[in-house]
Amino acid sequence: MAPTRRDVLSTSLAIPAILAFPSVALSKTRRQAAPGDDHRGPVAIASANGIPAVERAFAMMHEGADPADAAVAGVTIVENDPNDLSVGYGGLPNEEGVIQLDASVMHGPTHKSGAVACIEGIKNPAAVALLVLKRTDHCLIVGEGAKRFAMANGFKEEDLMTDRTRQIWMRWNANLNDRDDWLDEDQMDWDARDPMNRGRGPIGSNEAVNELERLAADHDVRWRNGVAYTTGTINCCTVDGSGDVASCTTTSGLSWKIPGRVGDSPITGAGMYCDNDVGAAGATGRGEAVILNCGGFSIVRAMERGLTPTEACLEVAGDIVRRTKEKRLRGEDGRVNFDVKLYAARKDGAYGGASIRPGGRFAVCDENGARIEACPSVYNA
Ligand code: GLY
Repeated sequence: MAPTRRDVLSTSLAIPAILAFPSVALSKTRRQAAPGDDHRGPVAIASANGIPAVERAFAMMHEGADPADAAVAGVTIVENDPNDLSVGYGGLPNEEGVIQLDASVMHGPTHKSGAVACIEGIKNPAAVALLVLKRTDHCLIVGEGAKRFAMANGFKEEDLMTDRTRQIWMRWNANLNDRDDWLDEDQMDWDARDPMNRGRGPIGSNEAVNELERLAADHDVRWRNGVAYTTGTINCCTVDGSGDVASCTTTSGLSWKIPGRVGDSPITGAGMYCDNDVGAAGATGRGEAVILNCGGFSIVRAMERGLTPTEACLEVAGDIVRRTKEKRLRGEDGRVNFDVKLYAARKDGAYGGASIRPGGRFAVCDENGARIEACPSVYNA
């Protein structure tokens, strides 16, 4: 029988007194042992593209920073990286070639969240989301209003498109329809790989494809009609030395999306959530699936019921699979044809993650430094 809330809350956890860390109940029925189960103390956990983020966040908390400030400072490094095609500067654009960014952050001690969605021309939406949290009575500001809010607070408008993302977008755009006036690669008499026959920029069309294939390793790429759609994102969950928690998620969202589309990343309770009595959680991957299952909120509630972070993530990943009803979202083998990766850090420092597809990984940093760890999946290889 599943433990009741009273059972769970009455099950105490043996934590060395020297850590003086908040006690959180463990499930009586541990189903999935993972390395993060036994970790206690401060920790930062992020999606696999977040090694620099967890290093920065952990170092800042070590110096006494607030966990939300630390998480935002961590993901800001990835937002600024032009080589990460899923976040901030250099993120992939919408179908019109416009980069629209989403971000959110939640702070455990105050139980407040702040978010921006569909913001254009601002490189660091997570920092803007943190100002929404700290300086307003609102949870979410979108579009032009979000940009004006950012600029009023000193953020500069910038061109977020790099030569590389422009080339990748152009290739997607040109190959979209073989009846439009843009020649598909197989319609050209020219060698599309020859630098003379493509637009200006360092990345040719084949390199662009390689780039998207490389993305598939750490991001969530879904191929449709030979075209890659990616929902790469970064989430970072933090637990500081007092057991205060936070979570932050930032993304350029689904590549080639319909302008105005907003995914899970800026939605409190979906792309991230935390409860200072329990822990923090976040998600990357197909945002629509995470929204429909209240991903972040559900993980935190599952931890409150007594599941470990890994078990909680795996339970919610399984719920997403079970509740996916549309035929177009399943392959011939019956499996869902997208991925979601979930991350969680409990108030006492236990951490974990889970994915739908095998091969999921996440970044984590604690007193032993930053590293990548594997996580269990709903499907086997
Ligand atoms: N998880 C990011 C997105 O779907 O936009």
